[in-house]
Amino acid sequence: MFFKILVLVSLLAVLAYAQETSFVYNGFKLGELRLDGMAWVTSNGLLNLGYDVKQQMGHAFHPDPVQFKNSPNGSVFSFSTTFVLANQAQYATLRGHGIVFVVAPQRGFPGSLPSQYLGMFNQTNVGDPTNHVFGVELDTIMSTEFQDINDNHVGIDLNGLTSAKSAPAGYYAEGGKFKNLTLISGKAMQVWVDYDGTEKQINVTLAPIKVRKPNTPLLSLTCNLSSIINENMYVGFSSSTGSFGTSHHVLGWSFMVNGKAQALALSQLPKLSQINKKETSKVLTIGLPWVVLLVISMLILSVVYVMRRKRKFAEVLEDWERDYGPHRFKFKDLYIATKGFRNQELLGTGGFGQVYRGILPTSKIEIAVKRVSHESRQGMREFVAEILSIGRLRHRNIVSLLGYCRRKGELLLVYDYMPNGSLDKYLYNQPKVILNWSQRFRVIKGVASGLLYLHEGWEQVVIHRDIKASNILLDADLNGRLGDFGLARLYDHGTDPQTTHVAGTLGYLAPEHMRTGKATRSTDVFAFGVFLLEVTCGRRPVKIRDAEDAILVDWVFSCWDRGAILEARDPKLGAEFVEEEMELVLKLGLMCSHSDPLMRPSMRQVLQYLEGDIPMPELSSIGSRLTFSHHEGFDDLAMPPSSMDKAFPQSSSVVESLLSGGR
Ligand SMILES: *[C@@H]1O[C@H](CO)[C@@H](O)[C@H](O)[C@H]1NC(C)=O
Ligand SMILES: *[C@@H]1O[C@H](CO)[C@@H](O)[C@H](O)[C@H]1NC(C)=O
Ligand SMILES: *[C@@H]1O[C@H](CO)[C@@H](O)[C@H](O)[C@H]1NC(C)=O
Ligand SMILES: *[C@@H]1O[C@H](CO)[C@@H](O)[C@H](O)[C@H]1NC(C)=O
Repeated sequence: MFFKILVLVSLLAVLAYAQETSFVYNGFKLGELRLDGMAWVTSNGLLNLGYDVKQQMGHAFHPDPVQFKNSPNGSVFSFSTTFVLANQAQYATLRGHGIVFVVAPQRGFPGSLPSQYLGMFNQTNVGDPTNHVFGVELDTIMSTEFQDINDNHVGIDLNGLTSAKSAPAGYYAEGGKFKNLTLISGKAMQVWVDYDGTEKQINVTLAPIKVRKPNTPLLSLTCNLSSIINENMYVGFSSSTGSFGTSHHVLGWSFMVNGKAQALALSQLPKLSQINKKETSKVLTIGLPWVVLLVISMLILSVVYVMRRKRKFAEVLEDWERDYGPHRFKFKDLYIATKGFRNQELLGTGGFGQVYRGILPTSKIEIAVKRVSHESRQGMREFVAEILSIGRLRHRNIVSLLGYCRRKGELLLVYDYMPNGSLDKYLYNQPKVILNWSQRFRVIKGVASGLLYLHEGWEQVVIHRDIKASNILLDADLNGRLGDFGLARLYDHGTDPQTTHVAGTLGYLAPEHMRTGKATRSTDVFAFGVFLLEVTCGRRPVKIRDAEDAILVDWVFSCWDRGAILEARDPKLGAEFVEEEMELVLKLGLMCSHSDPLMRPSMRQVLQYLEGDIPMPELSSIGSRLTFSHHEGFDDLAMPPSSMDKAFPQSSSVVESLLSGGR
């Protein structure tokens, strides 16, 4: 009974060994092989024996020992194995060393080195007959130390790395023609290693995948393996990777002792394309989506930036405007000049829009930019034409219009920059700086000279229509300059002015202008008269509160009537003034703002009086007629000037509505 059990146990043991003599892996699963070093099995079943990182090695062994002999001193059984591999190197010069099919006494090579030692030996034990290592190397680097024939060869290694026999990688196709194979091509190829135990012959055959096993082996070596292979051995692979971009894979593996290794099911092997995509460059697979994402978002950002910038600096430019050439400014330049229309650059705000100070980027000229909003495009052409005709006016007492720019809903007018701002700031509302009489007199003469130029000195008659202290600007030398031609009208010399909608500022409007709607040189003279009184008396033409002296002209007239015209002067002037000049200016102011246009002097005469070229006629001779009939008109308009401006109907002309609003 005991004997029977013993036999059964030993029989079972023999059976167990017999089962272990054959296996096949059509792709690998995690945990099936014993791995170390850089070796790992990928999710899709590839055995990866090393990847990229510098000098590294990897080992993979079938977990169980294989019995190769009947007894320790017996001869080695026949065995056969086949596997499919793929080696890759992105850079030919940085390739790894290769992959070796091994039969070894242990599941690993403790103390071994990578690179030329292929992860199997080190400098002390390489070639040692006690190693008991059999290998078939697929070597991709030529190591002269081990007499390699080239950098793309197959060799049979016995206990060392100096191959017992080797050959350049390739195969004998049908008809016996030899074809080279490149081991690091990244293409899958199949290897067969067969040992015939009776003939003591090792055959190694190589072929591209899907090519049937060639009849002629690549390598054939007669060798008694009995002294090398022990009774029980482990089979597997060793690999040594080189540098970045190399990788070694085994796709499938079949092995058998005493028989022909079962054929691999090639169609079931993991796909190599996935090597390229997923495995060969983990850096790229992880990095690439981020890089692509980054590039795309940067692209989107820059497109958004460019589009926003384009919209930000968008202008309206029509064909007809090209004729104006240099008068047309680029919005971008104006934007830069005014530092993006910053509040710090704001010079003033009115109902018409804002005025900003700026410095042109290239020429460094100081400018003032007026932004006028407009909705309609109608009449724009005529308006721009007119603006630019006015832009051609050149006189030292006129603020030059340098050009314009047009955007959607916005017109920008570019003027010379006047560092000292508008005159009204020096006259009313507790000014910080008060102009003395001689400065005021100079401004008056300057403005008179500028207005004469508009009326008589240019190719067309220009009616300014809005002469008042706030439209007189002071340059660096405190010279008065006539600015803001927003309401100006042009007509040819010798023709009659057209009727227009009444526009201007209340208090400066001649009575007949309000009646007939015609703006003439004479209506400008009227406003100039009011301006003279304004400068001399230092107050607005119409006082806000209803008082006896609400209307400046009436008040000055009453002073004159009492024979004390100088009492009307600005008290801030003190006693420092030239009496004759002041009297002349006050009287001239009354004369110019006479209700009868025929009684007003021309600007030529005004200038002659101011210069003292011609004595001014005595006011008394016309005094009886100084009835300021427009007074009636003011009675029901005694309200703040700003709201009075709005009392005027907005004109239907775009041009007027554009620029008269808020005045
Ligand atoms: C095996 O060979 C060794 C010498 O190589 C010898 O010492 C030993 O006795 C032999 N064993 C058997 C079972 O033949
Ligand atoms: C070489 O390998 C052998 C065997 O694993 C080991 O005993 C020895 O220490 C190693 N030598 C060196 C220098 O690493
Ligand atoms: C095969 O490779 C060898 C050496 O690498 C070379 O001499 C030979 O020309 C090659 N043959 C073909 C057909 O490419
Ligand atoms: C192979 O070697 C073993 C032991 O070294 C020996 O017993 C056997 O006869 C040899 N076979 C041949 C064919 O030389």
